[in-house]
Amino acid sequence: MSIRDELPVFPRHVGIIMDGNGRWAKKRGLPRSAGHVAGAKVFKKIALYAAEIGIPCLTVYAFSTENWSRPPEEVSALMRLFKTYLQDAIDNFSDRDICIRFLGDSSVFPKELRELETYIARNSAGRKGMTLNIAMNYGGRAEITRAVRSLAQAVEAGNLRPDDIDEAMISNHLYTAGEPDPDLIIRPSGEKRISNFLLWQSAYAEFVYNDILWPDYTTKDLDDALREYARRSRRFGGVK
Ligand code: IPE
Ligand code: IPE
Ligand code: MG
Repeated sequence: MSIRDELPVFPRHVGIIMDGNGRWAKKRGLPRSAGHVAGAKVFKKIALYAAEIGIPCLTVYAFSTENWSRPPEEVSALMRLFKTYLQDAIDNFSDRDICIRFLGDSSVFPKELRELETYIARNSAGRKGMTLNIAMNYGGRAEITRAVRSLAQAVEAGNLRPDDIDEAMISNHLYTAGEPDPDLIIRPSGEKRISNFLLWQSAYAEFVYNDILWPDYTTKDLDDALREYARRSRRFGGVK
């Protein structure tokens, strides 16, 4: 029996801020890049498990718009790792019913990485199992800015009246268009902040924080977060 059958409520969309790779490596006297390698392995394990237990949509935060401010050697190690991982993903995820989407501005990535993203997104599009969003060069503020710009252009072109802009229209101009908002956002590593992740979409998300560093995160920790979510009382501003 999977955890899904055990729980009375199950999230439709889970977000994970995969944090703590650097500290994990530091604790072991390893370079930060070794923490990212370990974190990427855990990403694969958790993503496959999430699909197995029937989470409809999973968003993982892999690289933020602010992460470019890290030392150049760390950024290039991450770009290399993303490339290897996306190449692997073609094999690891190809026989799974997982639709992979990339959230964020990929235009600044090295050409090979951009092409891998396009290939994977195109090949997995339309799969009906889990949707796996990989947020790479993603920032909530950049995403909202992009949506506002696109709506302003439509107004300028005479195709949209400002009064017609509503919340649903804004949602539909975000990278997550068509997906449910996250019900649950998990942040391991001990930090208790959103760090520019799914700002618009997380308006009523439940948060689960814990002290586990991402490379130590296990499928049991995800089960625990799902149990914790099932115990929460969500009110959406109303009364229950
Ligand atoms: C998260 O781990 C991975 C990325 C942001 C790419 P960190 O690298 O932020 O790890 P800590 O927070 O320094 O431990
Ligand atoms: C958030 O973690 C971004 C990712 C996990 C990709 P950070 O480590 O960048 O966030 P801060 O700097 O602690 O807020
Ligand atoms: Mg961090």
